[in-house]
Amino acid sequence: MRLGSGDIARFEQDGYLFFPGRFSLEEAAMLRTEAQAVYAMDRPEVWRESSGVARTAFAAHTFNEGFRRLGRHPRLIDPAMQLLGGPVYMHQYKVNAKAAFDGDVWQWHQDYGTWRRDDDMPEPRAMNVAVFLDEVTAANGPLLFIPGSHRHGVLAAGHDLQTTSYPLWTLDRATVTQLAERGGCVAPTGPAGSMLLFSSLLVHASPPNISPFGRTIVYLSLCHVDNHIRRFQRAEWIAHRDFAPIEPMADDCLAELVAAHAQAAE
Ligand code: SIN
Ligand code: MN
Repeated sequence: MRLGSGDIARFEQDGYLFFPGRFSLEEAAMLRTEAQAVYAMDRPEVWRESSGVARTAFAAHTFNEGFRRLGRHPRLIDPAMQLLGGPVYMHQYKVNAKAAFDGDVWQWHQDYGTWRRDDDMPEPRAMNVAVFLDEVTAANGPLLFIPGSHRHGVLAAGHDLQTTSYPLWTLDRATVTQLAERGGCVAPTGPAGSMLLFSSLLVHASPPNISPFGRTIVYLSLCHVDNHIRRFQRAEWIAHRDFAPIEPMADDCLAELVAAHAQAAE
């Protein structure tokens, strides 16, 4: 999939692009089942909320076949290569749960703020590609974006080690207010299989999920290979060290797995 010049202009203006229903409901359902299997594992990559439900699973592309294929999917990798101007490697891979009733907040932040400060990534030549595995609605803890906030560079942030189980460089309320007064605040919502591309400088957050509906989203954090991290203080499965360019697979690589699972169940 190639982005058109209108898409690229919109990405530069707003800092994100939203493509509802980019993957089929079957592809999303297969990955949702895989996510449940991953969350049931007792592994250091699976982080939990204080209630015990999964919050996020890191690096699932290294130990799960469905997520390995998604991590090399051309619908995700090709537009990222186009926007970042060359080959990309996987800096981080997360399957975020935001579980029904117990899914907790992600405070306001820029991802590149953390990658710069913790991992010494030289430039914000990196971005996120997200895929909804559940329908995301206003009710189940959607992502919140401040359009245009990526145009302000790296913003001052404090290291939040307390609010949740995941340490994050977060923005103060005055900064968020000022940015939102200019850009507003949006919550892209849509069916399972929807795809979001967003700048690593875009200011974003998500509220807790007190609805009875789960909200699973996968995030590929892709970085231009020349811009790889220089500091290795975080676990390898949080900030990856494999800087080899990702070779995209065929477009039907997930559909093929859906068919294989259906056949095995017969
Ligand atoms: C993130 O900002 O990295 C995750 C936010 C979310 O999944 O709600
Ligand atoms: Mn983030």
